[in-house]
Amino acid sequence: MNPFNYQGPVPPARLIDRRDELDALQRAAGDRIAIRLAAPRRFGKTSLIDAHVAAMRAAGHRAVRVDLSKVATVADVAARVAQAFDALPPDPRRIVRRWAARLGVTAKLAGLELSVAPAAARPPADEARAALLELLDVPLGLHNADGGLTVVCLDEFQDLLVADDALDGLVRSVIQHHGAAAAYVFAGSQPSLMRALFSDRERPFYGQARPLELPPLPIDEAAHDIEQLLRADGLDDHRAVDELLAFTNGHPQRTVLIAHHLYNILDAGGDRDDPASRALDLAIQETSDAHQAVWDATGRVERIVLVALADGSAPTGSRVASEHRMARSTLQDALNRLISDERHVHRDGRGRPRLLDPLLGEWLRRR
Ligand SMILES: Nc1ncnc2c1ncn2[C@@H]1O[C@H](COP(=O)(O)OP(=O)(O)OP(=O)(O)O)[C@@H](O)[C@H]1O
Ligand SMILES: [Mg+2]
Repeated sequence: MNPFNYQGPVPPARLIDRRDELDALQRAAGDRIAIRLAAPRRFGKTSLIDAHVAAMRAAGHRAVRVDLSKVATVADVAARVAQAFDALPPDPRRIVRRWAARLGVTAKLAGLELSVAPAAARPPADEARAALLELLDVPLGLHNADGGLTVVCLDEFQDLLVADDALDGLVRSVIQHHGAAAAYVFAGSQPSLMRALFSDRERPFYGQARPLELPPLPIDEAAHDIEQLLRADGLDDHRAVDELLAFTNGHPQRTVLIAHHLYNILDAGGDRDDPASRALDLAIQETSDAHQAVWDATGRVERIVLVALADGSAPTGSRVASEHRMARSTLQDALNRLISDERHVHRDGRGRPRLLDPLLGEWLRRR
């Protein structure tokens, strides 16, 4: 079986690097300091959280990941919390079991997946709010009973505001009293929205969590781990792995996606000619619909900036400006919008604007 899984979180044993981040998370949990983990999409936030949860459990603590992705109502939020907290030991007041039933979350049976009732069967907002208040307080109840710590990781935290744009206030009102009972991690994939939640003075979580960055994967370490996985199955191609990483620059999901195709190409044997570019071709084919969607949703000036970045030209330089008969300030404004949007463009370590997704860059270059 191909060991390079590029869809969804990777199990802790498969994590490349992230030791510093895991240490930081563990130290913060020990000190009961809340952490805000904001990174671009597919940078490995959920995988890191899963590894943190596993490490905390191995150290004898309680730990859960609450998946808030695409919650649309307060009842959805309460149901996700009930679903996650069902993995905890039974709370003395049986809050989780009681609400789980009411929210349509079937209690976990050994080895069986949880199922959640259709949204239409959920209780109304007032009751859902009451459920959420009680559920969020479960770590305190457990702590009062046994003095233990519960680590609660709220993944895709910014989606909470879709359900209700004041829910961050409600969450904070409960968890601020948790002291030694719980340690929180807030993770999210729209960095600017995450920042607004924690850096906007008007918001309840303003200044309430320490930021933790999630950089691209370190190239040497990623190359080493990819080669090891290839070698375990009798495959080997140093040059192709180096080329792959030179191309992705450590973008986590893109690295694994291309490695997946490289594995298949090497495994099929036959033509040994330039496997890295053939793997890249397959990755481009597979993702081209997504790049097209980005392109379609992007305005004209932003498109010009994206293409310039892909081509390696200065996006706000005089050459691009005169080619499009456009003021450099117009290009600069578009670049600023793209950077503050944080989905496609970021500044690298030296402050230069870069495309986040190397495959989008390649797709644009092949236009
Ligand atoms: N540290 C890592 N080691 C190995 N692979 C990784 C690592 N981090 C991310 N990946 C790759 O990236 C993919 C996405 O990881 P994950 O789902 O954890 O990211 P995410 O940031 O939570 O994504 P999303 O924004 O979609 O929620 C994984 O399937 C895996 O291929
Ligand atoms: Mg995720």
